Amino acid sequence: MERTFTMVKPDGVRKGLTGEVIRRYEKAGLKLIGLKMVRLSEEKAGELYFIHKGKPFYNELVEFIISGPVIPMVLEGDNAVSQVRDIMGATDPKEAAPGTIRGDFAEEISENVVHGADSVESANREIQVIFSQDELVG
Ligand code: RTP
Ligand code: MG
Repeated sequence: MERTFTMVKPDGVRKGLTGEVIRRYEKAGLKLIGLKMVRLSEEKAGELYFIHKGKPFYNELVEFIISGPVIPMVLEGDNAVSQVRDIMGATDPKEAAPGTIRGDFAEEISENVVHGADSVESANREIQVIFSQDELVG
C-alpha cells in the first residue's frame, strides 16, 4: 500500500473539473484519505515546488498556483504514485494521451489541471507541507 499527494490546480477548480478528477482516481481503485479546499500562500506554494526554484517557469508557476483555490488530496492504493501520474498524463498537454486528465482537459503546460507527486519521497514531503496529521483518515 502506497500514499501519494495530488492536487486540482486553480484552472481545474475554475473549470469545474474537481469531481471529474476525483471520479477518475476513485474509479482506478484509489482511496481518498485526505481532501480539502484551500488557497495556498506564496510561502506554501514555494515549499511545494521548491525543486523548481531558479527555473525559468518558477515564478509563473507559483503565481498561477496561488491565483485561486486548489483541492489537495492524499490517495492510498497499490502503486498510488505511478497510478496517479498515469491518470494525469504528460506534463505538456500536447503530449498527453487522450483518456488522461491533461490529455482531455488541459491546453497549456502552464495550466495543466492537476499536480501529482513524482515519487514516494516527494509524496511524503508534499503531504507534510499541505496536511496536518489530524486531517488524514486512518
Ligand atoms: P506537477 O509537478 O505539477 O505535477 O507537474 P509535473 O511533475 O508533470 O511537471 P514538473 O516538471 O514537476 O513541473 C511542474 C509544473 O511546472 C510547469 N512547467 N512549465 N514552461 C515549462 O517548460 C514548464 N515546465 C514545467 C507545469 O505546469 C508543470 O506541471
Ligand atoms: Mg512535478
